Amino acid sequence: MKILAIETSCDDTCAAVLENDCLLSNVISSQTDLHAKWGGVVPDIAKRAHMEKIEPVIAEALKCLNPSVNKSTSPLDPPSLKAMDGRSKRETLKNLSTEEIIDKLIKDIDVIAVTQGPGLAIALGVGVNKAKELAIKYNKKLIGVNHVEGHILANLIKNKLGKPDRKIEFPALAMTVSGGHTKLILVQNPSVPIEIGASPLEKRETFKKEIFNFKYTVVGETLDDAAGEALDKAAKMMGLGYPGGPIVERLAQMGDKNYLKLPRPLSTQKNFDYSFSGLKTSFYYQIKEWPKDKIGENLANLSASFQDAVFDSLLIKFKKAIEFYKPKTLLASGGVLANMELRKRLRKLAKEMKTPIFMPMKKEFNTDNAAMIGVVGYYKALRNEFVEDKEELDRNPRLNF
Ligand code: KG4
Ligand code: ZN
Repeated sequence: MKILAIETSCDDTCAAVLENDCLLSNVISSQTDLHAKWGGVVPDIAKRAHMEKIEPVIAEALKCLNPSVNKSTSPLDPPSLKAMDGRSKRETLKNLSTEEIIDKLIKDIDVIAVTQGPGLAIALGVGVNKAKELAIKYNKKLIGVNHVEGHILANLIKNKLGKPDRKIEFPALAMTVSGGHTKLILVQNPSVPIEIGASPLEKRETFKKEIFNFKYTVVGETLDDAAGEALDKAAKMMGLGYPGGPIVERLAQMGDKNYLKLPRPLSTQKNFDYSFSGLKTSFYYQIKEWPKDKIGENLANLSASFQDAVFDSLLIKFKKAIEFYKPKTLLASGGVLANMELRKRLRKLAKEMKTPIFMPMKKEFNTDNAAMIGVVGYYKALRNEFVEDKEELDRNPRLNF
C-alpha cells in the first residue's frame, strides 16, 4: 500500500510518501523565517505560505515514485544503458509543472492521509482541501488523521528497509511535548485479549487485523501553556529569536540551572496534569526590572534555569504516571523531544523505572512532519477507517481522541 501523507496544522508545509509504514520520502517546507520577526506564528501568513507551497511540496514528495529514482537496474545492464535509462526518465519530469508532476506520479498512490486537527484552523484547511481535491480527482481512498496521534506514532516510522522494527508492549505510556500540546496518554490495545484462546490460524488473522487497534486515553495534560510554548515565550522575554526552544537549548548548555529559583507548578499534586503559565509568570517578574545588559550577560544562566524547570515538571509527572499505570513501554515525542538534554533525562528515567523507551529516530520526526501522519494513515487503512464521503471531510482545530 502506497500512502501520500499531508500535514499543514501549524507552520510547516509537509508531505511524505510511504510504502505501508516504511518512509520513501519526507518533505518539509518550514515557515520559521516568515514568522520569526513576529515572535510567533501569524495565522494569515501561515495560510498564504501553505497555499503557495502545498503543491510543490507534494510534487517533491511524489518524485520518489518516479521510475528513474526507484528503478533497480540489473547489475548486468551495461553502464551506458543504466545512465541513459535514468537520464531520459528524469528529463521527462524536468519540464513539467508541479501540477503535471502530481498528475503523472500520483497513479501509484493508494491512500491519501491528511492531518484533520488539532491545529490552526486556516492552516489545517489548506491541507484538508488539497487532500480532498486529489482524492476526488484521482479516485484515491482518504483518511483523516489526528495530529497528536501522529506525534505518538512517529516512534514507529520505518526506513525503506523496514528498520527499526519496534514492538510496543501494552499498555504503553506516551508523552507528547510540543508547541501546541503537552499530554500524557495511556496507549492500550484492546485487541490483545482477543488473541487468547483462538486457533493458531485465527490467532494469526486476528493479530494481523487487530493488533494495531490502539486505544488512547489522555491521563494528563497541560492546563494552560504547552511546554514548547513556555520555552518560546521565555525566549521572547529574553529577546531571543523564534522558535525559542532550540535557542534556549544551545544557551542552556553553558549556563547554571540553579541561577534563578523557579517553581515546578502542580508537582506535588496527585494528578498527572501540567501547568506552565505560573512558571512563565515567575520568570517574567524576576527579570522584569533587570536592565538589558544584565539579561544579556545572563542569557545562558536564565535559559538553563528555565529549561530545567520545564523539564523537571515534565519528568516529575511522567514518573508519577509510570508508577501508577505501570506501562510496559514508554513513548516520547513532539517538537521539544528534539532537545538532547530532555532525551538524556528521559533515557535515565526509563532506566530507573526499568521500562524501555522509544523516541523518534530522527530530529525531523520530532517536529511537525507528514511521515508520522502517513504511519497513522497506514494503521487506519489496515482497519478500513477511510472517509466515507470525501466531500464531507472537514478540518477540526479542536480534534480530540
Ligand atoms: O511538534 P512541533 O514542531 O509543533 C507543534 O505541534 O507544536 O513543536 C514545536 C515546538 C516549539 O515550541 C519549539 O520551540 C520546540 O518544539 N522545539 C524545541 C526544540 N526544537 C523544537 N524545544 C526544545 N529544544 C529543542 N531543540
Ligand atoms: Zn505537532
